[in-house]
Amino acid sequence: MNGGFMGTVPRNRTGSQEYDEENLGFGSIFTDHMLQISFSAGKGGWQPPQILPMDNLVLHPATMILHYGQQVFEGLKAFAGPNEEDIFLFRPDMNIDRFNKSCERLCIPTVDPDLFMDQMCRLIRMDRDWIPRAPGTSVYVRPTIIGSEPHLGVRPSQEYLFYIILSPVGAYYPEGFAPVKIMVTDKYIRACRGGVGEAKTAANYAASLLAAEEAHAEGFTQVLWLNAVDRVSIEEVGTMNIFFRINDEIITPALEGTILPGVTRDSVIRFARGMGLKVTERQVSIEEVVRAAEDGSLQEIFGSGTAAVISPVSSFRYKGRDHLVADGKTGNVAATLFEEIVAIQTGAKPDPYGWVVNIGKA
Ligand SMILES: Cc1ncc(COP(=O)(O)O)c(C=O)c1O
Repeated sequence: MNGGFMGTVPRNRTGSQEYDEENLGFGSIFTDHMLQISFSAGKGGWQPPQILPMDNLVLHPATMILHYGQQVFEGLKAFAGPNEEDIFLFRPDMNIDRFNKSCERLCIPTVDPDLFMDQMCRLIRMDRDWIPRAPGTSVYVRPTIIGSEPHLGVRPSQEYLFYIILSPVGAYYPEGFAPVKIMVTDKYIRACRGGVGEAKTAANYAASLLAAEEAHAEGFTQVLWLNAVDRVSIEEVGTMNIFFRINDEIITPALEGTILPGVTRDSVIRFARGMGLKVTERQVSIEEVVRAAEDGSLQEIFGSGTAAVISPVSSFRYKGRDHLVADGKTGNVAATLFEEIVAIQTGAKPDPYGWVVNIGKA
């Protein structure tokens, strides 16, 4: 499929939003344009891509996404580099691959990876003036696909809308690292084997909200999710993957179908091994972590994800008892991984892994 937008692109009809680089927050400001590619089984599949002014979508009230949740999304960041023309993406091939794997699970047609990359880069370059330059800031890229057919019978939609929107976002840690308190839930579960836990689809996030709200009400930032069947094996923390440092071994739950395979998770594993650290992917139980906290062998806990890169954990509550981690401070490994991965993402340090793609020049 080729095609593409040919002519000039009209400006956002409401005009550009002003923004202050120091107070961007996350996800409420959008750039001028969006990419749209529609799919129609009845019209031979994918239609030509279009870059359009950012605008509302008009959906029939029976549109299938609104009823049966057939949706997949991704999240990655575009960073301004040291040179004016640089725009860096971090391992975008992994996001595209994960997007298509999620689509397969949700009975959604996959998007050609080269077309996805080309059109995403065109959109980012078109709205490049929106990429903030202050340390820690970026443009968050949100590819999304929805079942767009107006139809009330339960079956896969015959029409889809794939779109990409861009949102300038602030530094996650404007005042330095803030280790978080987490709450282990054995009341709610996020995913189960055979379900959609390893797909990046709206249902997983809807299912997580109540546990998160209850945890927030008790003063916790994130929920630690346990395995649906045994309620002891650890899965993820909030919307991040999780790592433990116990006796100088870095342990993260193995991917067994219920955990989102994070791009940052994979990068942490490879980077930490490159630092000479022992990293193991295996089942880890909350009981093992409690024992390690009690006997002093638990050195660090941290989450990993695109938004924060690394999020250190200061304490966790399990069955009503609080356990302090690393004296409530940020551990050495978490701090080093954060600094080194951010330096690679933003071009401040060389990238020995070939993870960063400079898309600044067409
Ligand atoms: C449920 C969940 N787990 C883990 C992650 C971390 O994945 P990544 O490192 O690709 O951002 C995310 C965020 O995308 C997520 O939503």
